[in-house]
Amino acid sequence: MQEAPAYFRVGMKIAGYKLFNKRSPIYGSADIINVCNLHCTHCYWWLNRKDQEELSVEQWKQVIENKFKKRHVFIVTLVGGEPTLRPDVIELFAKEYPNRVCVVSNGTFPLKKTPGVYFYWISIDGTQQVHDTIRGKGAHEKTRKNILDYIEKNGKKAWKDIWISMTINSVNYKTVKDVIEEWYPHVNKIGFQFHTPFMKGDPLWFPFGPDRTKLVDDMIALKNNYEDDYIINPKKQLELMKRNWGGRGTIPVDCPTWTILAVDHLGREKQPCCIGSAENDSMKPICEDCGLGCYSVFLSHGIKG
Ligand SMILES: C[S@@+](CC[C@H](N)C(=O)[O-])C[C@H]1O[C@@H](n2cnc3c(N)ncnc32)[C@H](O)[C@@H]1O
Ligand code: SF4
Ligand code: SF4
Repeated sequence: MQEAPAYFRVGMKIAGYKLFNKRSPIYGSADIINVCNLHCTHCYWWLNRKDQEELSVEQWKQVIENKFKKRHVFIVTLVGGEPTLRPDVIELFAKEYPNRVCVVSNGTFPLKKTPGVYFYWISIDGTQQVHDTIRGKGAHEKTRKNILDYIEKNGKKAWKDIWISMTINSVNYKTVKDVIEEWYPHVNKIGFQFHTPFMKGDPLWFPFGPDRTKLVDDMIALKNNYEDDYIINPKKQLELMKRNWGGRGTIPVDCPTWTILAVDHLGREKQPCCIGSAENDSMKPICEDCGLGCYSVFLSHGIKG
């Protein structure tokens, strides 16, 4: 019952958009830290990272009030850098947004059970050897251990708190089926997105064409082999990922950028989307080659830019 007003507001936001084309952010995303312990080959975050201060817990409380609560954002995703290195800020969000906070993590540090955190998105970018090519030697082993320890330590339902996120690129695409099979016995869900480049000719981008189309078709077929939406991407979203759905050059067109209010480590709004930046001289993601899951899922439900 306590959650009813929040659900009502989301319903109103979607109705407001469908009926009157009114645009108000539904989700939030916050880079709660300006530090990461890894330097993954595909990572957009390092491209625009500057050596700057971070916000205190008190300052984050102001951001929560003035940005997320003021605009009645429904769920906030905590990102970074590596957000588990700021447990103080995670606890604050969990208190201010109980059960409507998720944490995206590389899982290389022990995972803490924090009351009020809905679930962890843990990034896995392939089977062990391929994951380590992207994320660094030994990364897979640490992450796997931390996931299994969390599940063992936190009771019968703890497996429900772990969702896997894989970003598909030209190096790891052949491991998708193995990753699906490997994690099925352990975790609740698995979600996929595709690498989004910041420059043309990025060798990690998995080009549109027959190989990508075949992979997506295989993933759609695999979805039916698993119960309870283990593979969480809707079929319509996967279909979109076969080709350009987002924009032209670096300009979003159909991409519904307004659906997610994204702030950086200083609480400043990022443009054009959660992988962009608050600073004008930043490198820009290439919308026409975009594979991000969080926006394409809205588009697959008819919510456009
Ligand atoms: C920037 S990381 C921050 C959270 C945490 N450090 C982690 O690795 O999960 C958030 C997510 O963005 C993904 N990512 C990084 N660079 C990307 C890119 N160029 N295109 C699409 N996703 C990307 C990562 O794989 C990760 O799942
Ligand atoms: S762990 Fe996350 S933030 Fe750090 S480099 Fe890798 S993808 Fe980027
Ligand atoms: S999610 Fe970002 S990069 Fe992708 S189409 Fe939208 S604005 Fe462009």
